[in-house]
Amino acid sequence: MLERAISNLLDNAVRYTPDFGEIKIECSSVTDQVRFAIRDTGPGFAENEIDRVFEPLFRGEMSWNRSTGGSGLGMTISERIIRRHGGELVVDNSSLGGALLSGWIPSVKESSRR
Ligand SMILES: Nc1ncnc2c1ncn2[C@@H]1O[C@H](COP(=O)(O)OP(=O)(O)O)[C@@H](O)[C@H]1O
Ligand SMILES: [Mg+2]
Repeated sequence: MLERAISNLLDNAVRYTPDFGEIKIECSSVTDQVRFAIRDTGPGFAENEIDRVFEPLFRGEMSWNRSTGGSGLGMTISERIIRRHGGELVVDNSSLGGALLSGWIPSVKESSRR
């Protein structure tokens, strides 16, 4: 399921970044969290989109005009999977332009903590 969550985000990065763009993926282990960040050099999110991208079937205005063939479910599914694992997914724009998807999941099972 986690593989699915991350691959939805990577599919978007690839799909919404133009040719010769760049996608940067960072992943690190910090205490009991695995943190990740995926940055791309595509158009990023419109101001009014950021709060809505986790809504089922939501697709950005630009996506309607383009033959990108998405269903508008990818981000919803990713967020739910990550939350169910006790983590968080945050949508933002990168200071370098483009989308920034970041978040974390616990690296230790709830039951084995302490
Ligand atoms: N990396 C990205 N860069 C720009 N816009 C994005 C990116 N990822 C998602 N989006 C926007 O968020 C919307 C929802 O994403 P998603 O749920 O994966 O649906 P879709 O099937 O359209 O890819 C997309 O339609 C697009 O407008
Ligand atoms: Mg998608």
